[in-house]
Amino acid sequence: MSELIEIKAETTGFGAEIGGVDLGSEISDEAFAAIRAAIVKHKVLVFREQHLDDDKHLAFAQRFGPLEGHINRSSRHSDLPKIQIFGNVDGDGNIIGYHPEKGTLVWHTDKSYVATPSLFTILRSPAVARQGGDTLFADMVRAYEDLDAAEQTRLDGLRAVHDWKRSREKSDERAATADEIAAAPPVDHPLIRTHPETKARAIYMGNHASHILDWDQGDGEALLAALERHATQEKYVYRHQWRDNDVLMWDNRCTIHCVTGYDAAKERRVVHRAVVQGDVPV
Ligand code: SIN
Repeated sequence: MSELIEIKAETTGFGAEIGGVDLGSEISDEAFAAIRAAIVKHKVLVFREQHLDDDKHLAFAQRFGPLEGHINRSSRHSDLPKIQIFGNVDGDGNIIGYHPEKGTLVWHTDKSYVATPSLFTILRSPAVARQGGDTLFADMVRAYEDLDAAEQTRLDGLRAVHDWKRSREKSDERAATADEIAAAPPVDHPLIRTHPETKARAIYMGNHASHILDWDQGDGEALLAALERHATQEKYVYRHQWRDNDVLMWDNRCTIHCVTGYDAAKERRVVHRAVVQGDVPV
């Protein structure tokens, strides 16, 4: 008998909680198709009370398509390179005292600095901060739709340059290595992209976007900053407050996200992440 998944959507339509499914078990094709449809419709999904290990996490993620490793090799799982770990706890269980990846504290969409940025990201959190450490998402479709027609026309056709090296500088992270820069030279993507499945238009930017192609650097930075301020107003934001055993999933084609601050000297916060490869934004 196949599972009957339950979908409890946020009143805004942005984000939904999914019940009635155990992600660590064999999920029927029917239930999987319902989850696949739900992520496209609601953009962010929360699954409560899931008891996954890394193998089960990978097995679930792989059903959505091939997975990609992260350019930052230092955070890759030592045995499972398609799992990336961001945590403030070392191998001996000691708190290291700082948030390990400052780039996640600023708004971004995953891997927009490559030609084929991430499709879905699936995250679980073996250690949840009790205060702060929430994951926030902004709905870039609604943010685009609320722009007036003249502004939409001005933005359509622009391309933003996304650059791993510059993104590291902006988030005050360790400098990109020569290998990373060679693997991820700057790329440009449409500033307004069309979701290949829903055909909805979405603002596509975030911290990896450094400037607007063929524009003066300062003018491009100012436009990107203004768009981020617009898109991250509370009315477009879904806040995920982590509970033990949550799994969180999002569609990178139409959302940006960031982590809120927490006391990294006291609180343990660890996430394990699997990312499904996407295609070229159009
Ligand atoms: C990420 O930006 O991919 C990580 C989000 C989180 O740690 O909640």
